[in-house]
Amino acid sequence: MELVLAALVLARLLSCAFSDTQGDVLYDLKNSIKPPAYQLTDWNPNQVNPCTWSNVICDNNNHVTSVTLSGMNCSGTLSPRIGALKTLTTLTLKGNGITGEIPKEFGNMSSLTSLDLENNRLTGEIPPSLGDLKKLQFLTLSQNNLSGPIPESLSGLQNLINILLDSNNLSGPIPDRLFKVPKYNFTRNHLNCSQNPPNRCESDSTDSGDSHKPKVGIIVGIVVGLSSILLAGGLMYFICKYRHKGYKREVFVDVAGEVDRRIAFGQLKRFSWRELQLATDNFSDKNILGQGGFGKVYKGVLPDGTKIAVKRLTDFESPGGDAAFQREVEMISVAVHRNLLRLIGFCTTPTERLLVYPFMQNLSVAYRLRGIYYHY
Ligand SMILES: *[C@@H]1O[C@H](CO)[C@@H](O)[C@H](O)[C@H]1NC(C)=O
Ligand SMILES: *[C@@H]1O[C@H](CO)[C@@H](O)[C@H](O)[C@H]1NC(C)=O
Ligand SMILES: *[C@@H]1O[C@H](CO)[C@@H](O)[C@H](O)[C@H]1NC(C)=O
Ligand SMILES: *[C@@H]1O[C@H](CO)[C@@H](O)[C@H](O)[C@H]1NC(C)=O
Ligand SMILES: *[C@@H]1O[C@H](CO)[C@@H](O)[C@H](O)[C@H]1NC(C)=O
Ligand SMILES: *[C@@H]1O[C@H](CO)[C@@H](O)[C@H](O)[C@H]1NC(C)=O
Repeated sequence: MELVLAALVLARLLSCAFSDTQGDVLYDLKNSIKPPAYQLTDWNPNQVNPCTWSNVICDNNNHVTSVTLSGMNCSGTLSPRIGALKTLTTLTLKGNGITGEIPKEFGNMSSLTSLDLENNRLTGEIPPSLGDLKKLQFLTLSQNNLSGPIPESLSGLQNLINILLDSNNLSGPIPDRLFKVPKYNFTRNHLNCSQNPPNRCESDSTDSGDSHKPKVGIIVGIVVGLSSILLAGGLMYFICKYRHKGYKREVFVDVAGEVDRRIAFGQLKRFSWRELQLATDNFSDKNILGQGGFGKVYKGVLPDGTKIAVKRLTDFESPGGDAAFQREVEMISVAVHRNLLRLIGFCTTPTERLLVYPFMQNLSVAYRLRGIYYHY
């Protein structure tokens, strides 16, 4: 177990620069798109990672996968640094009044499946580098002021389902391949669609209410209706799931002045259940320091007088509970590296997972953990 933890800690140290970069990159994006001051106020660049920021979603390894900033009344431009977000799959910046060009570095976001920049004031040409986004399924650049041709490189996007470039100032021929994308819209540009036989610049809108086949219509209606209900149910499920995850995430805020390095990296102690039981007076309610998504935190004293805080994780037996424990240790490892919050040790039994931290007299100064770790 010690070995596993040490390995986790090491892995985190190695990927630490990566985690920091994500936050820096997103913060840089915020600064460049210039949202009004009342937006994105919780985007705090001092946090260990951006996974708790509003409108940001991460995977279980704290890699940013989704950034959705719609209708925020921004006035700035797009930051080229966002190309560094290699794990991002969804980027939505629609309806923001963003100006300037689409940076060619957008082509570096190699995991991107959905890019939506609809309804901004983007100018310049569509960068050919977007053709490097091999996983892209949805590309929406409608309602901007983009000019020039549609880059031929977009023909290489084999996974495209949806390409909407309508209402821009694009000109020239359209790569043939793009007419095979299930849904496309090139209207309201200066494009020449005559190479496409019926000379249409947009794909057929989904259903055209065929009056000759009313029965088929009804059946289709029922099927569509039922699927929407199922889909809505599924969506609700996922939304709840994400919410739940969000709730469990923890925030470690940088606090200056903690330089005690007694508990160094690699010296995690494995406590026995009995030791922690004794230290916390059998997890007495009067020793509860706080409570959060993970469980309760107890105050305790070791036989040598060391004061500790013991975090007793609940629901680790539920699916994902073990992963939660792992995430916790990972998060703390990052904090160890940044010299913020040190894990002294841990305890595992078949039914319990516990983490042991040093107990600081002045907790409100030592840890400002946004009401999840400790409550006051
Ligand atoms: C956007 O800004 C305009 C003027 O600055 C303001 O009237 C409007 O309410 C803002 N909209 C939102 C959604 O913040
Ligand atoms: C990002 O994109 C630019 C221009 O498209 C390219 O020159 C650069 O090498 C890319 N960087 C990485 C890290 O892929
Ligand atoms: C596009 O640019 C023209 C000229 O610069 C401007 O008048 C127009 O408002 C712009 N359209 C949009 C949607 O930003
Ligand atoms: C549309 O693009 C052409 C060049 O392709 C340019 O001359 C013109 O000013 C653009 N119009 C707007 C409204 O941006
Ligand atoms: C549009 O393209 C077709 C063939 O691709 C060509 O014959 C026609 O002249 C073009 N029309 C314009 C207005 O450029
Ligand atoms: C294509 O875009 C135009 C203008 O933005 C819109 O009116 C039309 O409904 C769109 N067509 C489809 C099939 O989405």
